Amino acid sequence: MPSTTDQLVMRPITVEELPVLGRLVGSIFLNDHHEDEEAIEAPVYEPERSLAIFDGGAPVASAVAFTRTVTVPGGPVPAACVSWVAVAPTHRRRGLLTRMMRHQLTELHDQQREPIALLWASEASIYGRFGYGLAGQSCLVTVSTAAARMPADAGRGGRLRLLTADEAMPPMTAIYDSVRADRVGLLDRRGAWWQRRLFDPERWREGASSLRFAVHHDDDGSPDAYAIFNTKPSWGATGPNGEVGVREVQATTPAGYAAIWRFLLEIDLVRTVTWHLAAADEPLPYLLDNPDAVQQALRGALWVRIVDVDRALSARRYSTRIDTVLELSDKLCPWNSGRYRLTADAAAATCSRTGDPADLSLSVTTLGAAYLGGTTLGRLAGAGLVTEHRTGAVAAASTAFQAVRPPYSPEIF
Ligand SMILES: CC(C)(COP(=O)(O)OP(=O)(O)OC[C@H]1O[C@@H](n2cnc3c(N)ncnc32)[C@H](O)[C@@H]1OP(=O)(O)O)[C@@H](O)C(=O)NCCC(=O)NCCS
Repeated sequence: MPSTTDQLVMRPITVEELPVLGRLVGSIFLNDHHEDEEAIEAPVYEPERSLAIFDGGAPVASAVAFTRTVTVPGGPVPAACVSWVAVAPTHRRRGLLTRMMRHQLTELHDQQREPIALLWASEASIYGRFGYGLAGQSCLVTVSTAAARMPADAGRGGRLRLLTADEAMPPMTAIYDSVRADRVGLLDRRGAWWQRRLFDPERWREGASSLRFAVHHDDDGSPDAYAIFNTKPSWGATGPNGEVGVREVQATTPAGYAAIWRFLLEIDLVRTVTWHLAAADEPLPYLLDNPDAVQQALRGALWVRIVDVDRALSARRYSTRIDTVLELSDKLCPWNSGRYRLTADAAAATCSRTGDPADLSLSVTTLGAAYLGGTTLGRLAGAGLVTEHRTGAVAAASTAFQAVRPPYSPEIF
């Protein structure tokens, strides 16, 4: 049902309206309109999950959700992936984003859809007020190939092949899905999402080659690692100064990971390897004799919004046994506010309302930051965001919530 305030009408957009909305969103993100981008976005677009605000018939704001899963501690869970969030410069700071955020979350709750929502933020100051917590970081990795040396025997086994995109797709999807089963932060990727992931228009390349695909097979011939990358030639006074730009590396085994990195670091004429969306805890420095050859710069990546506390907390698993009462505050989604007993371990979890006294109190934003197990409750408590009512409760919950590795978010949606 459309909802109307003055002449502003909020409703889903149709497939036919997609180009008009695409133009608006493109211009808000400071881009020209490109038909090839529209073609790559259309197959992942879900009209019934879109939201736009129209002023006199013209769209002036949008927010869409994609139906995907994200791997959390314990395995994949459904997640509403929020994107295309944009308000026209002519209509800003009048509450349009607030209206869309409230509507989206209320609908997820009313329809008992995904227990969590995810997004990438263009600016980190926007989403905390809507209950999204910064749950994962990505890392800009820059490697000086002249300084990087792998131990002589590392990454030597198996066989590496350079393939076309079509040839590489079957092994890449198999490797990705195998890694995704327990790598926190990875999203499921149906066909159209893979196409979007490999979208590579010339205007994005800044002088680099088109994408290349390297797939490693172990000694038994099974694919165990891949790299998607490009190359950029450069020549200086002292000789070659080429670059490799990594779009994605995935590996099911440490041996595959080492082999892919030996390949990337030893391409002739290359002096620098750059990877923009590496994991926050990339093992690469520890593969090298000289870990300082790898420069690492963290930045915010995945934001998590708990839609329903009980459903979200019982959907994940915990690294140690926990029995605790959490007191939650949630201004935007008042159905979440109150006390919950969480009883859980590595195999099962239950979370339900309780009248018992709280062990910890925190906001839904803070819980979202801790949900994927990368940002510890101990760290958040250090920022004054968790109040401990029973001695030891922060330490116990912090350990139980923590994942083996922090979330890995190689893909902006
Ligand atoms: C970010 C954006 C969607 C905000 O839309 P909006 O309709 O102006 O937001 P609202 O009027 O609902 O603002 C809600 C609150 O967020 C604050 N806010 C909005 N945009 C903000 C920003 N970029 N940085 C910091 N605070 C921001 C507002 O000041 C307001 O604060 P208040 O509640 O204390 O008054 C809009 O500015 C925009 O389209 N920006 C460019 C595209 C973009 O960055 N989109 C987000 C993609 S992840």
